[in-house]
Amino acid sequence: MQIQTIATTPYTDQKMGTAGIRKKVKTIIQPNYLENFVQSLFDAIGGVKDKTFVLSGDGRYYNDVAIQKIIKMAAANGMKKLIIGQNGMLSTPASSCILLKNHADGGLTLTASHNPGGINGDFGIKYATSNGGQCSSQVSAEIYEKTKTITSYKTIDAPDVNLSNIGSQTLGDMQIEIVDPIKDYLLMMENIFDFEVIKKLFANGFDFVFDAMNAVTGPYGIKIFEEVLGAKKGSVHQAVPMPDFGGLHPDPNLVYAKHLVDLMYSDNAPDMAGANDGDGDRNMILGKKFFVSPSDSLAILTDNYKYIPAYKNGIFGVAKSAATSTAVCRVAKALNINCYEVPTGWKNFCNLMDTNRITFCGEESFGTSSSHIREKDGIWAILFWLNIIAATGKSVEQITRDFWAKYGRTYYLRFDFDGIDTAVADQLMADLEQNLSSFEGKTYNTYKVSEAKPFIYHDVVDGSVTKNGLLVYFEGGHRICYRLSGTGTNGATLRVYIESYDKDNFDKNPVEALTPLLNVAMILAEIEKRTGKNKPDLTT
Ligand code: G1P
Ligand code: ZN
Repeated sequence: MQIQTIATTPYTDQKMGTAGIRKKVKTIIQPNYLENFVQSLFDAIGGVKDKTFVLSGDGRYYNDVAIQKIIKMAAANGMKKLIIGQNGMLSTPASSCILLKNHADGGLTLTASHNPGGINGDFGIKYATSNGGQCSSQVSAEIYEKTKTITSYKTIDAPDVNLSNIGSQTLGDMQIEIVDPIKDYLLMMENIFDFEVIKKLFANGFDFVFDAMNAVTGPYGIKIFEEVLGAKKGSVHQAVPMPDFGGLHPDPNLVYAKHLVDLMYSDNAPDMAGANDGDGDRNMILGKKFFVSPSDSLAILTDNYKYIPAYKNGIFGVAKSAATSTAVCRVAKALNINCYEVPTGWKNFCNLMDTNRITFCGEESFGTSSSHIREKDGIWAILFWLNIIAATGKSVEQITRDFWAKYGRTYYLRFDFDGIDTAVADQLMADLEQNLSSFEGKTYNTYKVSEAKPFIYHDVVDGSVTKNGLLVYFEGGHRICYRLSGTGTNGATLRVYIESYDKDNFDKNPVEALTPLLNVAMILAEIEKRTGKNKPDLTT
């Protein structure tokens, strides 16, 4: 095996987001672009000599090329072992499961999550540390620094590795283990949920659809829902992973999964539908003519934890991102457990899970999970709902309505203003922050501001301080949260998250219920004046 040192010149745009880099495919495929990032990462973490990593991706365009490049670089850098899903594919939750089970030193997942794929889409590399979580901001800063000064990277001159057969092989001194992508993950799910009661539910004719959005979880869905649990054949829709997700934007929400929403609001709607995103960490839950908002879903799962074998003896606290609605906080209060509010992203959740402070966590962006892994988990959330339905005999809608009756309903939507000039967006946020205190005590469109402040989080575990978003609270339990997206690849996206609490009226149309507050949000941040937009580009 011939180790080669290839001369390279730095790129300047390889700053990591919360968990890795995410770029346009056309950026990633530039000469040495991926290699520069991977070598910088290896160097910044003290090298990978004698380490074991999990490596796979969601099968999107360039997965096959990138994985071979990384395998050869890992071997050249002295990696001891790579664990790879068959054909180079693993869902993000399965990758986390395998990383933790094997006590690996790290993981690389080739994905841009819910962003579109294909040559005109996005690609990314997610890096997980040995606890399955994200690296510290110092390490990501270090990686970025290395990308700016890199002069060479190491690889080997070898033919591509065959990734299609399960089993062990070697590449030079490095061991490569190709694993079944589903087996360990399925075992983990069987140990959490009551598969017997879910099997009975399907045996009794429960009509269910799982939509994999032509992405990585198709085969997981077929195995788990159809083959193991007995959902009828064909229950898994868009089950074959495709490099461009069949042209879909693989983000399971009301807009990008409109085909599924249409099915669920039609007269032959099945009893329940679940969908996952590109890499399988996000989920959407629908009942017959009924949508469960992700913030409600987190709260409802928490409220029903007793039905799940793995949690029935009690749970630690719960956590939500600041942008997520406060519904779960009301549940936590009733259960007498802590409810943590953390910055967007999974990192702070992981710290809380590692120290047994929380069991469940979630975000409004269709991500929910528990401490079984250190990522959000789309299939886990769907199995949780199925388990509750099977155990209670209630429908998705009934479970949700019972929840509202108990706690009140938090109407909630996210409004996105896309493709804003970065400088304009930064200025908008800076000025809004300056003005926050002047809103307090004033009334806008009948809503009186009780408090307005930036969201600042002090991590109880690593002591880090993160500022992430601006919050405006109104009397009566209404709230606006503003923040800029950290994952976009096209200018800046301003996200405006709005919630409105109603103790006893549960049948308002969410868009209508929230429009008056959206108008207030637009006025306070001078959105139209600064961006030229008089309405959001996306409502989810
Ligand atoms: C978005 C979501 C956020 C999620 C992240 C990764 O980030 O809003 O909740 O953690 O994707 O899936 P954003 O673009 O808002 O920074
Ligand atoms: Zn994802």
